[in-house]
Amino acid sequence: MRKKIVAGNWKMNLDYTDGLSLFSEVINMVKDEVTGDQQAVVCSPFIHLHSLAQMAKGYHKVAVGAQNAHQAESGAYTGEISTKMIASVGAQYVILGHSERRQYFGETNELLAKKTDMALKNQLKPIFCIGETLEERQAEKHFDVIKQQLVEGVFHLEAVDFDKLVLAYEPVWAIGTGVTASAEQAQEIHAFIRKEIAEKYDQTVADGITILYGGSCNPKNAAELFAKEDIDGGLIGGASLKSRDFVDILKTFN
Ligand code: PGA
Repeated sequence: MRKKIVAGNWKMNLDYTDGLSLFSEVINMVKDEVTGDQQAVVCSPFIHLHSLAQMAKGYHKVAVGAQNAHQAESGAYTGEISTKMIASVGAQYVILGHSERRQYFGETNELLAKKTDMALKNQLKPIFCIGETLEERQAEKHFDVIKQQLVEGVFHLEAVDFDKLVLAYEPVWAIGTGVTASAEQAQEIHAFIRKEIAEKYDQTVADGITILYGGSCNPKNAAELFAKEDIDGGLIGGASLKSRDFVDILKTFN
């Protein structure tokens, strides 16, 4: 059985106090209401990470992650945060390659391959994001784009390391737009990703990896998406800022 995960991506929202109170609501609701072994992963801004990790300590149903990290071990990179620092406060995950990082900060597959290596070196699990833009889908290039993101971003890894990744398929046209990919569209891509992994590694590796869907996922559409055989959870932006909505999405796996 693949691990089921619902990850929240708070992006650049919530000050310290508001972040802590949202997280404490999430933890309490998960404790009271989540009956399965699915995991919530809250990816907050850096400033919240240490406190959230302390709050979640010893409770395996809720983990904490960052939204980005630098590719170097340490050094003269003013304003940057290393994977080692993130791991040192008790975070277990880091989102890499989110489309907003690719689009606004020029992150390339090549750079993301380096970030992935450094995250794994420091025992952080990458949530590695891939997905096509609207123009790419309209030009029917979406399979090619996704394959290239996999090949250049993560297929350099040995199988033992690849196994530690979580992948997230996020069609850029569905992020923050209210337009969700249909469950069939999402399943088609998830199955394609799994087939590519089976060809590169083997079927066991492909069958074991958790692949999340992201892009306007909410409590109303989560059940239909998560019912698809290759969709193992979600990466949630907007709806992760409301404890009720986020935990309701997580409860889809109850
Ligand atoms: P959204 O964002 O749920 O607000 O569409 C998803 C994401 O960016 O990960």
